[in-house]
Amino acid sequence: MNVSSTETTNSVSHFILLGFPSSPEMQLLYFGLFSVVYTLTLMGNTAIVCAVQLDRRLHTPMYIFLGNFSLLEICYVTTTVPNMLANFLSTSKSISFVNCFTQFYFFFSFGYDEGFFLCIMAFDRYLAICHPLHYPRIMTKQLYTGLIIFGWSGGFLLFLTPVVLISQLPYCGPNTINHFLCDPVPLMMLSCSEDAITQLIYSTFNAIFMIGTFLFILCSYALVILTVLWMPSQAGKRKAFSTCASHLAVVTLFYGSIMVMYVSPGSGHPVKIQKFIALFYSVITPLCNPLIYSLRNKEMKNALRKIFGTEHGVHKV
Ligand SMILES: *[C@@H]1O[C@H](CO)[C@@H](O)[C@H](O)[C@H]1NC(C)=O
Repeated sequence: MNVSSTETTNSVSHFILLGFPSSPEMQLLYFGLFSVVYTLTLMGNTAIVCAVQLDRRLHTPMYIFLGNFSLLEICYVTTTVPNMLANFLSTSKSISFVNCFTQFYFFFSFGYDEGFFLCIMAFDRYLAICHPLHYPRIMTKQLYTGLIIFGWSGGFLLFLTPVVLISQLPYCGPNTINHFLCDPVPLMMLSCSEDAITQLIYSTFNAIFMIGTFLFILCSYALVILTVLWMPSQAGKRKAFSTCASHLAVVTLFYGSIMVMYVSPGSGHPVKIQKFIALFYSVITPLCNPLIYSLRNKEMKNALRKIFGTEHGVHKV
C-alpha cells in the first residue's frame, strides 16, 4: 500500500480502487472482456424486460416479477461495471469519497433487493403450486404491486443504517482499496479507528438478511417440491419442476457466492480470492440470470422469438 497520497491531511477526499493490478496490456484485455460481459448482461436482461412488457401472455404475476428482477439486475451491474471499466483505462483509478459511498450504498441495496425478489418469486411459486385454487384470489394486483414496491425499496431502507455508520468512521490514512468496488470490508479496514460496534452491526445486518431470505426461499421450494412429487399428471410435474429448477439455479448462484464471501469470516480469504468471488455475484450472476430463464422456459422462449422475429422453424424446440 504505497499509493496513499493523503496521509498528511486529516481526512480522505477520495479513494483509489486498485481493481485487478496488472500490466497495461492486461488492463486492456480485462477492459475488452468485461465490456463484452456487460453488454451481454444488458442485452439479455433487456430482452426479458421487453418480452414481459410486450407479450400479453406474460402479463401474469410470475413474469411481472421476473421482468422487475431483470430490470433490477441491470441496475445492479450498472452500479459497479461501468466504473470498473473506466478504471481499467485510467491511471489514477481514484473515486471520490461521496461516489465511493454512493456506489457502496446502491450496490448493497440492489443486492438486498435481489434477495427480496428471489423471496417474492419463491413465495409466488409456493402459492401457485401448493394452493392453485386460492392463488388467483390471493395474488391480486394489489398484492403483487405491493410486493414489488417492497422489493425495490426494502434494500434501500434497510441498508441505510450500515452505510451511514460506515461513512461516519474516520478515514485519515491510506486510501487504497484493493478491490474493484467500494466494498465495506476493505473500507472498514482503512478507517483509522477500529469501531467494533459498526463492524458488528454491519455483520449482523448481512447475516440476518442472508440467513432469513435463504431459509425462506429454501422452505418455499421444499414445500413446492413435495407438492410436485405428489402431482398425478406427468406434464404438470415437468412444467413445475422446470420453472423451479431455473429459479433454484439463480438462487444457488447468488447465495452460493455471497455466502462464501460474507458469512465465512470474510477477511480470512486472501484478497485475490475475495475479488474473484465478488466477480461471481456482482458480474456473473446478472449475466447468467437471463440465460437460465430463457433457455429453460418455453413461454419465455416463444415470447422472445416473437418479439425478435426469429421464427425460422429451424430452431423450433
Ligand atoms: C414491474 O412491476 C410493475 C408493477 O406491477 C409492472 O407494472 C411493470 O410492468 C413491471 N416491470 C417489468 C419490467 O416487468
